[in-house]
Amino acid sequence: MRSAERATQDTNTRKSVVSERRAPDKLHHMDADRRRLLTAGLALGLGLAQDDPVSSRPRAGDLVIRSGDASRTPLSPDDIPFASMQTLAWAMDPADRTVRSGSRLNQLLLLRFDATKLAPETRSRAAEGVVAYTSICTHTGCEVDDWMANEQLLSCPCHFSMFDPKDGARVLDGPAPRVLPALPLKVVDGKLVVARPFTAPVGFEKG
Ligand code: FES
Repeated sequence: MRSAERATQDTNTRKSVVSERRAPDKLHHMDADRRRLLTAGLALGLGLAQDDPVSSRPRAGDLVIRSGDASRTPLSPDDIPFASMQTLAWAMDPADRTVRSGSRLNQLLLLRFDATKLAPETRSRAAEGVVAYTSICTHTGCEVDDWMANEQLLSCPCHFSMFDPKDGARVLDGPAPRVLPALPLKVVDGKLVVARPFTAPVGFEKG
């Protein structure tokens, strides 16, 4: 969620709390049926958000496309340059070509390395040397879009956390509290395919 949206939401939440504190009698006398309806509506809303295919997290079997590719062409391992800057991407439902770009938390970064240079666990999640991680920094949610070519490390431009993509996006420096969650991949019919969901929840500390 963008900081402005979060601020608006927080403000609305505070207004709501203040409003509730000022009118306890009104709350206490709220009709029980009405309360049940409100609760059901909230639950339904949350359910719809989680089920929205555009915003839901990448799923096993999804294809992967380059960010901004209007043609929605599924990526192959050879589309990802060796030991080079990250490629930003989205997952796409192969059945109806729905691109899961409704949440910025779904954006991926892809990199390709010599598989023999990957740490064992990272290698087990790679497809012909291609690894995928969330592009969202685990510190306060900036996009990890810097690449340190000599060191072959990812870097976050906001507070300079550094991650090693060859070793599970391990944090080497900076305030990021944890690794970038990985998205395990495989190759099917020559295309990159999501093998399993993210290895950990995608998200960040509150700024
Ligand atoms: S948001 Fe990435 S280091 Fe702070």
